[in-house]
Amino acid sequence: MNISKTTVDNIKDRIDIVDVIGDFVTLKRTGQHYKGNSPFTDEKTPSFIVFPRNQNFKDFSSGKQGDAITFIMEYDGLSYTEALKYLAKKYGVEIEEEEQTPEAIQQQNERESLFIILNFAKEFFKTTLWETEEGKNIGLSYFKERGFTDETIQKFELGHSQEQWNALENEAKSKGYNPDLLEKAGLIIKKEDRQYDRFRGRVIFPVHNTTGKVIAFGARMLTNVKNQPKYLNSPETEVYHKSNVLYGLFQASRAIRHLNNCYLVEGYTDVISLHQSGVENVVSSSGTSLTEQQIKLIHRHTKNITVLFDGDAAGIRASLRGIDMILKEGMNVKVIIFPDGEDPDSYSRKLGSMDFQVFLKENYEDFIHFKTRLLSDGDENDPVKKAETINQIISSISIIPNQVQRALYIKETSSLLKLEEQLLYAELNKILINRKREQQKEAYNTRPTELVKEIEEAQQKEVQDSVEFQEKETIRILINYGFNEIEDKYNLVEHYLEELDQIEFINPLYNQILEIFKTEIQKGNIVDIHFFNNHPDKKIQQEVINLTSERHEISENWERYQIYVPKEKDVLTSSVYSNILRLKFHKIKKLIALNLDELKKEKDSDRITELQQISMELKKAEAAFSNPLGIVVS
Ligand code: UTP
Ligand code: MN
Repeated sequence: MNISKTTVDNIKDRIDIVDVIGDFVTLKRTGQHYKGNSPFTDEKTPSFIVFPRNQNFKDFSSGKQGDAITFIMEYDGLSYTEALKYLAKKYGVEIEEEEQTPEAIQQQNERESLFIILNFAKEFFKTTLWETEEGKNIGLSYFKERGFTDETIQKFELGHSQEQWNALENEAKSKGYNPDLLEKAGLIIKKEDRQYDRFRGRVIFPVHNTTGKVIAFGARMLTNVKNQPKYLNSPETEVYHKSNVLYGLFQASRAIRHLNNCYLVEGYTDVISLHQSGVENVVSSSGTSLTEQQIKLIHRHTKNITVLFDGDAAGIRASLRGIDMILKEGMNVKVIIFPDGEDPDSYSRKLGSMDFQVFLKENYEDFIHFKTRLLSDGDENDPVKKAETINQIISSISIIPNQVQRALYIKETSSLLKLEEQLLYAELNKILINRKREQQKEAYNTRPTELVKEIEEAQQKEVQDSVEFQEKETIRILINYGFNEIEDKYNLVEHYLEELDQIEFINPLYNQILEIFKTEIQKGNIVDIHFFNNHPDKKIQQEVINLTSERHEISENWERYQIYVPKEKDVLTSSVYSNILRLKFHKIKKLIALNLDELKKEKDSDRITELQQISMELKKAEAAFSNPLGIVVS
């Protein structure tokens, strides 16, 4: 079956790429487009851009680009059809299917065929478990011994593989499946002279992808045979990348969303036992250490992860890295440690459903408590060890992207370790600044030219903004204090106009107002607020009102509390001085840039010498201005 053309069009009509991608990537609007961190690489400075106008995205760090459908395919590792199904569900579009032509069937891509053969294998293992003597006597009774109910076994589609070399292969062949596919799906192993089923004489745990399709298997041994691993797992295949899969996520996703929390356990049986105890928001990374992609998978459903640790302490220290990875993803981490010798599977059976749920609710601690307890064990009297503990905890906090959250954790650490918040902030800032420095270096070296341009534009904008701010200050001072004197001898307006002779403001509105001052002073008039009150240009009128009403309130409030804030009038001379200095400084910077531009293009050697001389003069002037402003010229 194939999705009909009308359905595809319907889906495409409703897609909004910002909305689709926004489910997985935190996007920030910047001008015409949206920006975020690449979901495909481990980057720290955003270079993933979404263009709403042409409904495209481009990821500068991985080079991937395309539309919303491509994004879902790339992000979830889905086929075109699966991605469409996902989007149809998201936008409530009903799917109309149409028969596939024989040619289309022929063209079915490898992924689709792998799903089909994996599904066939799953059904075969299930049938073996429920319907063969061997399956019932060995596999099913093993599951029953472990306390799994029929319902649980069905829910997780557990199965059994016979103690035979070619049971699955023979069955597949008799049903007309291509034996090459069996190998590509990781189900049979081919040697030079023979081939045989990978899973034999074991119980089977199918691994599902997020849409519920079987993509791999885990298989547990039933008797303790030496030199054999307890679990055998499918190898990596076209449809199974274990670092990108969480066992149980398909069965858990709804509960995770609903309860807004996800329990993370170590193994297949932990997931299953928790379900049976009525805890359905649980997944497992199944033997591999937690990966960033796995965390991102969880993040699609919730911001909260609770990690469940076995009683044995061995793995706990190693888990700290995983916790940092979760923090880095901007998620909240809690931890539950099980009593010695117990894992979530054994303990849930021991306590029974109700008590177990109570245990989970009452025994979590947040990662700060957990890490502090773990690291500070017995270091009360050892200052060196204590400093190391503090550093490690602050280092975890520094990974958290959200500033407010960092502040909350600093507060908590402060009360927990009985240390001044300020001291912790000093430590935090040290780490943050160092990291930022590293990142900037890295970012500048590796950025594609398009982004370098963007960064430079942003810097230019910043300069422009600060120049405009100084222009605004000038106008504000002129209007408010035009009648005042500078250094007890010059009129303020005259002084300004003299100093700013030659300088033109970038902001057209401020320039217009400045011009008014110029023409009026030639007639001997000093203009003030009243002059502008009836000004025909409404924009000018409004701006003047804004500039004369600010600040007023602040100092009055302070005075009510008898706190003396120096009035602007008292420090007018120095305000004017620094304002003019800053304007000139920017002007010189601009002249330097123009001069450099001209130098680059100039061919005439005399003119070049001349320009170089000007350049030197300008550099001197720049240094002279920067000194009193406390600016470091690089
Ligand atoms: P455990 O040894 O804790 O297994 O390994 P378990 O899930 O609790 O299983 P039971 O209770 O003994 O039946 C945790 C996970 O590590 C992976 C599996 O995913 C397992 O669920 N593992 C373990 C392997 O992949 N291979 C192994 O040989 C052992
Ligand atoms: Mn176990």
